[in-house]
Amino acid sequence: MSIRVITSRQLALLGGSGALLLGASGCGAVKRGENPNLIAGKQEFVAKCGACHTLARAETKGTVGPNLDAAFSASLSEGERRSAVRTVVEGQVENPNRFGVMPSGLASGATLTNIASYIAESVDRPGKDSGLLATAVQAPGAGKPAVEKAGKLEIPADSSGQLSYATNKASATAGSVTITMPNTSGVSHNIAIEAGTAGASGPGPVLAASQFVTKGAASVSLKLKPGTYTFFCQAPGHRAAGMYGTLVVK
Ligand code: HEC
Repeated sequence: MSIRVITSRQLALLGGSGALLLGASGCGAVKRGENPNLIAGKQEFVAKCGACHTLARAETKGTVGPNLDAAFSASLSEGERRSAVRTVVEGQVENPNRFGVMPSGLASGATLTNIASYIAESVDRPGKDSGLLATAVQAPGAGKPAVEKAGKLEIPADSSGQLSYATNKASATAGSVTITMPNTSGVSHNIAIEAGTAGASGPGPVLAASQFVTKGAASVSLKLKPGTYTFFCQAPGHRAAGMYGTLVVK
């Protein structure tokens, strides 16, 4: 029996028979004899998938691909098993639509097992992760505030792949400042500056913006008067997902 790629929508249409086809191997998302690492699965999901997919338990807010909680809620409420969700996720990662946006080769082997098991255990489940899962990924933007020194201010992108900077607070003295954003995440980001504190809602008039970079560092230089500014990423959906912070200039 070979089921290649089946989508969440097809899974919902299969209804009860889907459980027979796909869920024969067990009751939860974990297959017998396997020991998937859900903590690693969450970390890998955030790093490789979260920039494009929303999953409430993982606190990811990507909007490029479908919201995974929404994608599977219908089939789960019809009694579909979580092991079937896992099979769909594995099929999608192994064989993404050739003409679609989702890259191929994102994960395989144990990494894919871990990611798919974490998703299957988490989708459409109310509440928050607890225990070791709760601390598997550091809270977005919670790093030490960035402080300008000798005209240079460094605000790294979140290295775990979350749509945030390492910190959401920065300060500088008035004058010429070069803001550098190192990015090791593999997700394309830039850093732009606007006056005021519009938060997630902006954008207001942009004063200056760096190039986009996926791996490496991007910089932007500008003259700043005393006041409060917002730094944010201009990739679609990233600011709304929380990729911004406040820069106070004195
Ligand atoms: C660059 C953005 C991007 C990344 C990264 C990405 N996806 Fe996707 N994903 C998409 C898009 C867009 C779709 C919609 C179908 C298509 O275009 O192929 C999709 C579809 C899916 C689906 C099918 C949902 C449904 O309704 O059936 C699943 C499951 C999925 N992705 C899981 C993952 C997993 C797991 C990862 C990480 C290993 C991942 N995606 C990484 C963009 C992405």
